[in-house]
Amino acid sequence: MGYVGPGLLEQLRRSRPGVTLVGVDTGYFAHCLTGVTIFPEARLDRQYFADLRKPPEDLFEDVDAVVHLAAISNDPMGDRFKEVTYDINFQASIELAKKAKAAGVSHFVFASSCSVYGFAEGEARNEQAPLNPLTAYAKSKIKMEDELQKLADENFVVTCLRFATACGASDRLRLDLVLNDFVAGAIASKQITVLSDGTPWRPLIHVRDMALAMDWAIQRDSANGGAFLALNAGSNAWNYQVRDLAEAVAELIPGVDVSINKDAPADKRSYQVDFGLYEKLAPDHQPQMTLKTAIQDLAERLEFMQFSDGDFRNSQLIRLKVISEHCEHGRLNSRLEWQ
Ligand SMILES: NC(=O)c1ccc[n+]([C@@H]2O[C@H](COP(=O)([O-])OP(=O)(O)OC[C@H]3O[C@@H](n4cnc5c(N)ncnc54)[C@H](O)[C@@H]3O)[C@@H](O)[C@H]2O)c1
Repeated sequence: MGYVGPGLLEQLRRSRPGVTLVGVDTGYFAHCLTGVTIFPEARLDRQYFADLRKPPEDLFEDVDAVVHLAAISNDPMGDRFKEVTYDINFQASIELAKKAKAAGVSHFVFASSCSVYGFAEGEARNEQAPLNPLTAYAKSKIKMEDELQKLADENFVVTCLRFATACGASDRLRLDLVLNDFVAGAIASKQITVLSDGTPWRPLIHVRDMALAMDWAIQRDSANGGAFLALNAGSNAWNYQVRDLAEAVAELIPGVDVSINKDAPADKRSYQVDFGLYEKLAPDHQPQMTLKTAIQDLAERLEFMQFSDGDFRNSQLIRLKVISEHCEHGRLNSRLEWQ
């Protein structure tokens, strides 16, 4: 019930019409719907509202594959809620993976992140490159990958997809992602404000292309990559510098000003990523979107939403803001448990 989930449900309903789809989410952002025509989880056969720290007993009964998306999902939230990020993204998540394995689940797909490469100047990083996780969020992803590797075997095939930064329209849009922020600024106020000096490298992937990758991974043959696989998921063509993204948006949406903060301190996160292995292993599930269609599609969604909030960086479309408000109003406690 987050940003990536709804697109995955659409993909799975399309590619596997007969399967039973079950969702589990605690619903932090359940209400943050954006320009929807149907409730996204109506595509599921069953939805549990549950905290994965206390999962339902029979969750994995008759389940073949698990796609594990639930997480505290970015650096700003991870900085503010360090311990909770460790608890949810790693401790509870690995316990869940153990339960899945014990229950006979054959495929486990984990949404990891290219942020594990941290600050990595020079050539594009492949999966063998040294890791440099700089934040609680990135560290939680590595820890999970390491422990999943120990669980993987012929009967429990694990794929950790190290996704590039996501972008694009979704039924629960996030605007705390670089390209989405730029398109939102362009639509709301004809202004793109680049907070860095624009030089950091940031590979992107469209949410629909993430869904394609997960669809591939839930049925991956262990002969194709091994029982455990940590894989960069994205495409070499989508390694962009932040300023290129701002310029691409300004080219497509007329009358937009781009301001770049030339005096900004160097961004801590900058990396180019080599997606060659993904191309080799999953030739039929390669990213399909172009940057142009991603921008146009998102602009259309924002227009459909009649989006005009110039102050969107303080809005309900920013995950940290929603969580903070839940806490301020006592709906969540400091461990991010519902009260
Ligand atoms: N968006 C990106 O750029 C990106 C890039 C790489 C990897 N990922 C990963 O993909 C996954 C999905 O990302 P997203 O953008 O949809 O994030 P999101 O924040 O929009 O959604 C995360 C979902 O997890 C749920 N959740 C969090 N803690 C939970 C708990 N304790 N129990 C049950 N549910 C819980 C939330 O309610 C929310 O619906 C995350 O694991 C994220 O780290 C995202």
